[in-house]
Amino acid sequence: MTTTPRRETLEKLTPVLTKRWLSPDAWRINVYEQLDGYAALRKAIAAHPDDLIQLIKDSGLRGRGGAGFPTGLKWGFIPQGDGKPHYLVVNADEGEPGTCKDLPLMTHDPHSLVEGVIIASYAIRANRAYIYIRGEAVHAARRLRNAVNEAYAAGYLGKNILGSGFDLDLVVHSGAGAYICGEETALLDSLEGFRGQPRLRPPFPATHGLYASPTVVNNVGTIASVPYVVLGGAAWWKSMGTEKSAGPMIYSLSGRIANPGQYECGLGITLRELIELAGGMQPGHNLRFWTPGGSSTPLLTAEHLDVPLDFEGVAAAGSILGTTATQIFSDQDCPVYATYRWLEFYHHESCGKCTPCREGNYWMVRVYRRILSGQGTVEDLDTLLDTCDNVLGRAFCGLGDGATSSVTSSLKYFKQDYLDYIEGRKAPKLSAKQLVGA
Ligand code: NAI
Repeated sequence: MTTTPRRETLEKLTPVLTKRWLSPDAWRINVYEQLDGYAALRKAIAAHPDDLIQLIKDSGLRGRGGAGFPTGLKWGFIPQGDGKPHYLVVNADEGEPGTCKDLPLMTHDPHSLVEGVIIASYAIRANRAYIYIRGEAVHAARRLRNAVNEAYAAGYLGKNILGSGFDLDLVVHSGAGAYICGEETALLDSLEGFRGQPRLRPPFPATHGLYASPTVVNNVGTIASVPYVVLGGAAWWKSMGTEKSAGPMIYSLSGRIANPGQYECGLGITLRELIELAGGMQPGHNLRFWTPGGSSTPLLTAEHLDVPLDFEGVAAAGSILGTTATQIFSDQDCPVYATYRWLEFYHHESCGKCTPCREGNYWMVRVYRRILSGQGTVEDLDTLLDTCDNVLGRAFCGLGDGATSSVTSSLKYFKQDYLDYIEGRKAPKLSAKQLVGA
């Protein structure tokens, strides 16, 4: 039965980035302007770029793409007076399983991203910016291109923006649907026309990014937050969230809950409160396991319902906040099978550049197929942990690390489920036919 959230829980909703989503036609520039649109740009362009960087530092805004790196610090890394072109690249290649906060933002409110791009580019002294959007997101890309054209026509993009002397060109570039191209250096390679594969870091894009020039790579949610920080100020932004994880965050709820969707709340809300906001679990389902931030983050359980969902709180519970894509599984779902399905994804998406990720995921998928078809052994569990040991921290980029998350955490919390398949207490999930070719 769907439950109604209590008033004190409802008050935890803080619609900031999502506030225009229900306004019809907010994606059109005239409606956007009626709803405070481009007011932040007028304010920002009258300020000194260094003051804007300081404002973002003071606000405590951290990256919304998963890692939570301090945004102002990143902008401050861009060397000034170096004579090189600077670039801003927006990572809109949202691909993490379960993650779906950037696509609705770009579809319903594309100008907030465009406005954020202009302000951020002005702050880091970039005259060229790119939005790299995943290839499958055709409708969002169409909306974005429309918004960019409208912004050019209104004088917010192009030469001498609002008479400030600042020039900016913005290009929307569609990728070709590879998960790896969401990794920032693979994204830059892809944007340069090469096959998207990660580069060794350091050097970081801040000094050696697009075309080997200083580049800020920020997530959609990060850049779309910037106009709000400019208009509302650092203290207002910090009034939401926690001391170290400031501001509102869009939590994407999916799975066995009554009303899946996007819930924007101050960082630090708990899953218990989010489930209440979402009308409770689906009838007949009890929470068993969940991801705090997409499939690359270690699973948590019903024991973790009161963990504050901010960067520090989730880390203290042994996981990662990641993309705040909370995928909710019940007592009718199998953690071994869920982990297998995620591993198949990582195996398929591994770019093949480094051995630990390419071979590790391949082997782990084979082991899971064995276990799930009732042909596994207890030794297979050690093989899985040993393989994870050889992937975690040894792969070229985060894809390998992410793949191990659900393996190690499901073995930590749900080893009995694995043993049930191995010792015949649970019916095989895969047939012998599906084992062929493993
Ligand atoms: P990271 O922590 O290595 O880097 C985060 C950002 O900080 C990067 O932009 C990096 O260039 C910058 N940075 C870090 N140290 C720096 C330094 N010393 N100097 C200059 N810049 C520095 O994290 P990474 O590998 O970029 O991202 C991992 C996260 O991505 C994971 O937490 C995962 O949740 C998330 N992710 C998100 C996906 C999505 O669809 N949004 C898909 C897959 C993963």
